[in-house]
Amino acid sequence: MIITIASDHGGYQYKENIDNYLRAQGHEVINLGCYSEQSVDYPDFADMVCDLVESTTADLGILVCGTGIGMSMAANRRSKIRAGLCKDVETAKLTRQHNNANVLCLGARVTDKQSIEPIVQAFISTDFEGGRHEKRLKKF
Ligand code: RB5
Repeated sequence: MIITIASDHGGYQYKENIDNYLRAQGHEVINLGCYSEQSVDYPDFADMVCDLVESTTADLGILVCGTGIGMSMAANRRSKIRAGLCKDVETAKLTRQHNNANVLCLGARVTDKQSIEPIVQAFISTDFEGGRHEKRLKKF
């Protein structure tokens, strides 16, 4: 799978950990920054990830900021992006099954470090269920 990831300064360390985790599984990772804990603006990074997901250069995207809220707000302004802000494995699975989310948003300040890998794994390994959910997504 090709997965593009990015963060702001608040999510930098979690994003680097996610990069290592995904590469260790053999995924192709496109890491679009940021590259340190120096302050940056999260919408710039949400836009870069969304560009690659919308153009189908990447299969899925992952965005990390302090709360995940700003990233999800920025990403969901895009017409072809369905970004799910998830804090646990259950919501990560459900946002794929029901919402066909193509971007996962995570909050580094509000999610335990040890929860991140299971959440990411649930997101990338769960398929959209289609059916009744397809009809609802068409109403977006
Ligand atoms: C950055 O200070 C912080 O606002 C950002 O990481 C995020 O939490 C925004 O939603």
